[in-house]
Amino acid sequence: MFTNRSVTHASNFICFQTLNRPLDYQLMLFLLITIVLSKEDQSIRISQSCATYLTGYFWNGQQCIQCKQPSCKCQKSQGCDTCLNQYYYDSTSQTCTPCPKGCIKCCKSSELTQYICTLCLDGYIMINGVCLKVEACTQISIHGRCQKCLDKYYLQESCYACPEGCSACDSKYYCTVCDDGYYMDIHEQSVSCLTCNPEENQEGCKSCVLDQEQLVCQACLDTYYFDQENDLCLKCPVGCFTCQNPSQLPQICYTCLTGFLLAADDSYCENCQQQIPNCMKCSTNERSRNFQCIDCNNGYYLTQDSKSCQPCNNGSNNFRRCQSLTIPTQCIVGYLLFQDSNGYSCILNTHDCYTIDNQQGQCKVCNFGFNLVFDTSLQMSICKNCAENIKNCISCDVDTSKQLICKECTDGYFGNLCVQCTPNCQKCLNETLCLTCASGYYLDDLNKCQSCEVSFCLECNKLKECTKCEDNYGLVESTCKPCLSGCQNCDGNLQKCNVCRDKYYLTATDNNCKRYKENCLATNINGYCYLCETQITFDESQDLFYDESEETPTFDEQADSQFYISNNGYCLKCNDYITGSFNCPQICKVDEDFASHLLPAILILLIFQ
Ligand SMILES: *[C@@H]1O[C@H](CO)[C@@H](O)[C@H](O)[C@H]1NC(C)=O
Ligand SMILES: *[C@@H]1O[C@H](CO)[C@@H](O)[C@H](O)[C@H]1NC(C)=O
Repeated sequence: MFTNRSVTHASNFICFQTLNRPLDYQLMLFLLITIVLSKEDQSIRISQSCATYLTGYFWNGQQCIQCKQPSCKCQKSQGCDTCLNQYYYDSTSQTCTPCPKGCIKCCKSSELTQYICTLCLDGYIMINGVCLKVEACTQISIHGRCQKCLDKYYLQESCYACPEGCSACDSKYYCTVCDDGYYMDIHEQSVSCLTCNPEENQEGCKSCVLDQEQLVCQACLDTYYFDQENDLCLKCPVGCFTCQNPSQLPQICYTCLTGFLLAADDSYCENCQQQIPNCMKCSTNERSRNFQCIDCNNGYYLTQDSKSCQPCNNGSNNFRRCQSLTIPTQCIVGYLLFQDSNGYSCILNTHDCYTIDNQQGQCKVCNFGFNLVFDTSLQMSICKNCAENIKNCISCDVDTSKQLICKECTDGYFGNLCVQCTPNCQKCLNETLCLTCASGYYLDDLNKCQSCEVSFCLECNKLKECTKCEDNYGLVESTCKPCLSGCQNCDGNLQKCNVCRDKYYLTATDNNCKRYKENCLATNINGYCYLCETQITFDESQDLFYDESEETPTFDEQADSQFYISNNGYCLKCNDYITGSFNCPQICKVDEDFASHLLPAILILLIFQ
């Protein structure tokens, strides 16, 4: 099961959401076939792609638009089609939720509240759907004990680093193989590796021997010249693989490192970026000793002769990507790429347009949350935000003269401009005609909202005659009285619960509510827990949109997520294997009688071994 440190698949786990929909594969195949583009289309697509460090954007034909969440990949405004790694896609809500710590991929089903990891990050090993952090361990037993370490580490319960200079060791005191640049120093109690380059500023000696207390270098590392007269290793010029004695002039390189080409006079080796600044992809011509640029960095275009990359933005054209200094393929943030008979140009987006339809920046379609209205002073269509323009409005519309009006006001407000209703009225037609009152109030004969005057009452038809109580209170003789602890609804009989609160279950014996066992999400009627919590900690402040011009954002590691597993009806915490009390999934048993009532899919997850 544990083959590789970086990628450990949990073939045993089944994300049944995908299994239940075999047709998806046919659909995917169909999509794959239909999106094959011509070569030219592809290059335009690439130059117009909005890919950033966290994706979260898509190209709408004129500009880059944000998806619903930074962790989404999307094709339409406010959409979310799939998620980035380390996020789980919830197809019902079309959102991305972070996987537990250490997971690259995870799955979840409606039957389970836990997320199950199906692929772990580098440095984590999977045990039964949980990714455990394992510093240098490459193989771990089902009991959480490390069985094998990375190179340069030795195993003693956990993995520990070998001393400096050792490529392999048996313990802290016994090196068995030395790194390049080190020699073996053997004593009765220890074998260590000492450096061949003890002096400051000295480097490049690959192997050496101790001769009468004197270190003698015998060979140099690659890219060093061995000065045999002085037993010294001298560094060749940058990019040279082999060279003539660099302490003598003129400087001569014989061969270059890969990616470098020898200059015409053999004096140095040059790489593509030195010859063609801002070139992203090069081809080399060994014979002519020249580089040719194939593709420039983002924001630069390739000149006709393929010999240089020039910046798209000359300081006033607002290009972000381009084919030349006159043809943009993408504009800087805040500008839209617009095509008309004169070709392409970048137009300032002053009115929150999604797309524009003329050089003046008239909106054609609006961004999400905006409505297309006609501005009489500008004499063109612009976009207006509903919430910013009409207070207490939930959603807007436009009237026949293309002006913004409210379609739905928040509770207590009415009309095209959301005017306040009478006090304690929830919905009204106009200032005087109230239709429904706020909770705890009833509508009297004069169309006013009056208090029920019953504590903890939600609804009544008359004064002091409650018909519905708040949660945790029971309706008894038109009043509201507290239920027993853990009970949400005890209408009719305060001693007998009808519905328990969250995390409480109704006992079979006395119709009262008992709390679930700790960290439990679901229990049977006897309080036997069969589903435990996974607490995923996630710092939302890290899920942000980033612009490509910004530096690569760095993220703090998520705090440890907590996993619990059902064992004999209790939820046990899965401890870190280092603590030695790793009592996680292998001891997970399901009460056989109870198990027969569970869905087979849940069983796979609970008793799989
Ligand atoms: C930038 O390029 C545009 C379009 O070619 C040109 O009109 C403008 O004068 C240039 N600006 C500068 C500062 O070179
Ligand atoms: C409120 O609406 C009702 C029913 O349409 C109408 O009879 C009444 O005159 C309206 N009151 C005001 C102040 O507009």
